[in-house]
Amino acid sequence: MRVLVTGGTGFIGSHLVDSLVSKGHEVRVLLRKTSNTKYLENLDVERVYGDVRDRSSLKSAVDNVDVVYHLGAIFNYWAPRDLIFDINVNGTKNVLDACLNANIERFVHCSTIGVMGQTGTTPADEKKPYNPDGSAYAQSKCEAEKLVLKYYTEQKLPVTVIRPAVVYGPRCFYGMYDGIIAAAKGKVNAILGSGDNYVSLVHVSDVVQGLELAAKKEKTAGEIYIVTDGKFLNLNELFIIMAKILDINPPDKHIPVWMAKSMAFLSEMKARLTGGSPDFTRNSIDFMTTNHIYDISKAKQELGYEPKIDLEEGLKQTIDFYRENGYIG
Ligand SMILES: NC(=O)c1ccc[n+]([C@@H]2O[C@H](COP(=O)([O-])OP(=O)(O)OC[C@H]3O[C@@H](n4cnc5c(N)ncnc54)[C@H](OP(=O)(O)O)[C@@H]3O)[C@@H](O)[C@H]2O)c1
Repeated sequence: MRVLVTGGTGFIGSHLVDSLVSKGHEVRVLLRKTSNTKYLENLDVERVYGDVRDRSSLKSAVDNVDVVYHLGAIFNYWAPRDLIFDINVNGTKNVLDACLNANIERFVHCSTIGVMGQTGTTPADEKKPYNPDGSAYAQSKCEAEKLVLKYYTEQKLPVTVIRPAVVYGPRCFYGMYDGIIAAAKGKVNAILGSGDNYVSLVHVSDVVQGLELAAKKEKTAGEIYIVTDGKFLNLNELFIIMAKILDINPPDKHIPVWMAKSMAFLSEMKARLTGGSPDFTRNSIDFMTTNHIYDISKAKQELGYEPKIDLEEGLKQTIDFYRENGYIG
């Protein structure tokens, strides 16, 4: 199969590219002149230079491919809202438009559970109405997903949406990364809030599995699939597992959410004044202290998705990667 991967230089995309190449697919990657190509260096992939905001660069990118995996996006809670929407929404529209004239068999869109917002304490499924949190990132991903599905209903473009939970694994340098590195350096003295809230994670290789299955299964056009590791655990339990692997004591104190948010507010203010990035934002505190629990029955039944890496194994592998690459002493 001939495939295009947007975002193929990123965390999830580079794992997807590895997997597709290893299966013998002809892989083309859309990348920018500024992209870090470290993970593409030894791979037999075609490089097409462009940008999802530059419509003229996308024609040749989608030319003569069977499947487009669209992962290119800005995943940042602090970048300017306009930039986030330009890349995540307008950029997605540009890739979709290019595909309309390219006779592709499938457009696989990498969305996020963030489009649904926080859940209750029972697992939410794909029918949960859109309710992204206040971040421009979640809102832009929500708009992008709606747009993708509109191209299915209005233009008959065969799209499938995958909504991963929080993704972790080797090559991940945000999200779980910050928590793992801080814990390894003994800087996590307390858990945010009560820690009783559900967190939802998925190892990157299982996200790749979901994305690839979405392209393979014929009857999945127009459908949305949530992919997680299928486990239900809370923030306290996550820290206990992480501490065990890092061979440290799990934090036994808790910071009230209001206090964490006040600290985040100050961190945001400082970032505004200095032009830097905050250590954490109020939106990220919201995400970490509210319930996120999902039902993956639909992906299992219709895609044949089966999470293969459990948290303990996946975290160990991830921590080994950080150790081998000098991020943890
Ligand atoms: N990581 C998670 O926990 C998570 C969870 C759910 C969903 N997702 C979704 O998964 C996808 C991949 O995320 P990731 O975690 O792999 O992020 P990432 O490591 O930041 O990768 C983002 C990729 O998008 C590319 N990109 C950014 N702006 C672009 C532009 N204007 N034109 C073309 N390409 C552009 C980047 O290219 P450069 O190398 O040039 O920067 C990079 O290859 C995103 O759609 C994200 O929303 C991620």
